Amino acid sequence: MTKNTVVGVGLISVGWMGKVHSRAYQAIPVVYPELGITPRLVIAADTEPSRADYARDVLGYEQGTLDYHEVLAHPDVDVVSICAPNFLHAEIGIAAAKAGKAFWIEKPVGRGVEETRSVEAAADAAGVASSIGFNYRHAPAIEQIKSLIADGSLGRITNVRGTFFADYSSEPNGALSWRFNRSLAGSGVLGDLMGHLVDLIHYLGGPIGSISALTSTIHTKRPIQQMGTGTHFDVIEGGELGDVENEDYAAMLFRFADSAIAAGAVGTLEASRVAVGPRASYNIEIYGTEGSVMWDFERMNEFQVAIGRTGDLRGYKRVMAGPSFGDFAHFQPGSGTGMGFDDLKVVEARKFLEAVAGTAHLNSNIHDAVAAAAVCDAAEQSAESGQWVTLPAVLGVTAALR
Ligand SMILES: NC(=O)c1ccc[n+]([C@@H]2O[C@H](COP(=O)([O-])OP(=O)(O)OC[C@H]3O[C@@H](n4cnc5c(N)ncnc54)[C@H](O)[C@@H]3O)[C@@H](O)[C@H]2O)c1
Repeated sequence: MTKNTVVGVGLISVGWMGKVHSRAYQAIPVVYPELGITPRLVIAADTEPSRADYARDVLGYEQGTLDYHEVLAHPDVDVVSICAPNFLHAEIGIAAAKAGKAFWIEKPVGRGVEETRSVEAAADAAGVASSIGFNYRHAPAIEQIKSLIADGSLGRITNVRGTFFADYSSEPNGALSWRFNRSLAGSGVLGDLMGHLVDLIHYLGGPIGSISALTSTIHTKRPIQQMGTGTHFDVIEGGELGDVENEDYAAMLFRFADSAIAAGAVGTLEASRVAVGPRASYNIEIYGTEGSVMWDFERMNEFQVAIGRTGDLRGYKRVMAGPSFGDFAHFQPGSGTGMGFDDLKVVEARKFLEAVAGTAHLNSNIHDAVAAAAVCDAAEQSAESGQWVTLPAVLGVTAALR
């Protein structure tokens, strides 16, 4: 792309993520003027008419439609954001690739690793760029932690702990959204939150090699919510109840693969969508022979670091993210004035558009989605069989090696 390239954007699904992707595209020319890229919001689709109207009237798309095929067929659309529920990801991802459109798709890509691989095959065959909604990679504190691991400040990584605990469905009358239905979502918290955590572990430490897992469902019935209405944070009093078909909680023990930066290290990962107390506590702890770090999304603009084993002042120290960490300087001039969730999506949009332009390849891509899905599928398999599962070597996790 040359300076001031206009990139035509198509959006599929105008729910929570559809809105966030749209705001991210709109921010690109002002947050990253040096890119010379101006996204043009061309057309957005949602089967719920009020959401297609919202895309046109509020988000600023030139056109709204009920049929996503119109987005893929539109000649002015160069890139597509796929923010549909999981059951549509493979169908739409493959169609986007066949239409020659680069795509930014939300996680999990489909209802398991097979569907994710089908999207990977289509993207590879078409040679189109892909980016995945693994937003937590982009937190400046995470980028700094990645540097500390890479430059050896923590020594040899020995063990890792991750807990992605959310309370969005802690209320037993929390809505039975599409997320709880196996045919619409696939797995439950494994695909929804554990996938993010696995990707972060892959990004920071390299591929996971083997796992042993268990899962449980805490609330087995919930009040039904119609597709395209409300959000999965809604609480519905007195509604008709339906079955929860996938897991609320998942845990795994794991070993890194021999090829990993953290080869030889082990860890534990847990994810819950029904935790009481944590709101969106997406926490990782990385322990090494020379030091340790700890980060939680609820305090995403800071992390704890301890380097050194001796001295009375050893122990954790709080570090605030600042302009020298990741993309922080694009958003705020100094520490203490924090970035937010939407900003992570702006960074993600930046990396996606650069990959499309061919100027940089810092984005997560469909291979990373396959790598995360393979671990989540293996967790389901292990939970069912009670056996350890060894992961095959995958193409993904390339970013960890950069
Ligand atoms: N990266 C993140 O942190 C993050 C956060 C939330 C959701 N997600 C992912 O984003 C995706 C969407 O989640 P959400 O919370 O935005 O969902 P949502 O329920 O808010 O929105 C989904 C939208 O899809 C629409 N839809 C349904 N069928 C459609 C069709 N055939 N064509 C077009 N639109 C259709 C619905 O009407 C609804 O507006 C999911 O895959 C989810 O896992 C990622």
